[in-house]
Amino acid sequence: MKQLNMHLFTLIILFLVLAGCTNSKKTNESHVKTAVQKELFGILDDGTKVFAYTLTNANGFSMKVISYGGIITSIKTPDRKGNFDDIVLGYDDLEGYLEKNPYFGALIGRFGNRIAGGQFTLEGKTYTLATNDGNNHLHGGERGFDKVVWELKEAAVENGVAVTLEYLSPAMEEGYPGNLDVKVQYTLTNDNELIVDYHATSDQTTIVNLTQHTYFNLTGRESDILDHELMINAQKFLPVDSTLIPTGELRSVQGTPFDFTSFKRIGKDINADNQQIAYGLGFDHCWAIDQEKKGLNLAAAAFDAKSGRQVSVYTTEPGIQFYSGNFLDGTITGKGGKNYGHRSGFCLETQHFPNSPNQPDFPEVVLRAGDVYKSTTKYVFITKS
Ligand code: GLA
Repeated sequence: MKQLNMHLFTLIILFLVLAGCTNSKKTNESHVKTAVQKELFGILDDGTKVFAYTLTNANGFSMKVISYGGIITSIKTPDRKGNFDDIVLGYDDLEGYLEKNPYFGALIGRFGNRIAGGQFTLEGKTYTLATNDGNNHLHGGERGFDKVVWELKEAAVENGVAVTLEYLSPAMEEGYPGNLDVKVQYTLTNDNELIVDYHATSDQTTIVNLTQHTYFNLTGRESDILDHELMINAQKFLPVDSTLIPTGELRSVQGTPFDFTSFKRIGKDINADNQQIAYGLGFDHCWAIDQEKKGLNLAAAAFDAKSGRQVSVYTTEPGIQFYSGNFLDGTITGKGGKNYGHRSGFCLETQHFPNSPNQPDFPEVVLRAGDVYKSTTKYVFITKS
């Protein structure tokens, strides 16, 4: 009898322990429903498969990334009423990205933005790059990092969901020296942040300037972005020549259309009678971020009063290119049949200054063998009433 009681006691304890375990797991699951889903997105002409990963955080925010170009094809966040919308421009399928892509959502490298005349000199040697933007080199050339297939994998992180993208760019690809080993991680945290970590090493001295070219439209609708309010944390911007190459001057924004030191409608000064606006066909300039400290600094924030959505951008980079979608002209039909009209998306591209390799006074973009290139940008998504 005593033995039976003991058995019963042990069984009850075992049951309680097990029940406890399942329960705590259930509680966990009901709070945190993060998910990473992999699917085939398309197949390139040479047979290469392009995969997509959809990351969903604990609050239902999601983003989709494809191995072609490291492209972020969607980011879905709620408006102030809790309705989710896709707030970035792009295509439903791979064909769209292959046919005509003004860098929607793409990773940009090796050198984001322009290099004058497609030439630079490093350790006494002159390198010639493709001139794919008039006489200048733009966004890494004819086949930049936006057009290569990355190795895309799920990554384990503490507070959210993540993927890594890796690409080995062979020496002299697009004219750049050194084998460049690049790794980028996209993390969607449970605090509703998208963190982009860039990492690169080279076996020879080279130049690097990586960025992300997502076009945002926080309304999630087929509208222009002129009513969005923008703040750029910069007292100075980089005036350009008629081909969008910085002149070398860092000019005060005070009293100019480039003053976004406090929130201002993007549309307010976009058509101002101003030489710089004329060159950019609107805003297509780099601002020198007020870097208050080492590490991540606030670079910019954009707010859409209609939906209540705001995205704030923090970065370790010294510059941010604000491009107001001036080349979008309604000839692109994107996701869900949406027509992307003039200025229907804007980009906030964190980076070193354009044409840095030819401007000794700009922060350096040289990566030497054995050194590590590291850069981080964080996008924080919130809603405001
Ligand atoms: C960058 C450039 C723009 C334009 C877009 C892509 O933001 O600065 O001039 O080339 O990319 O259309």
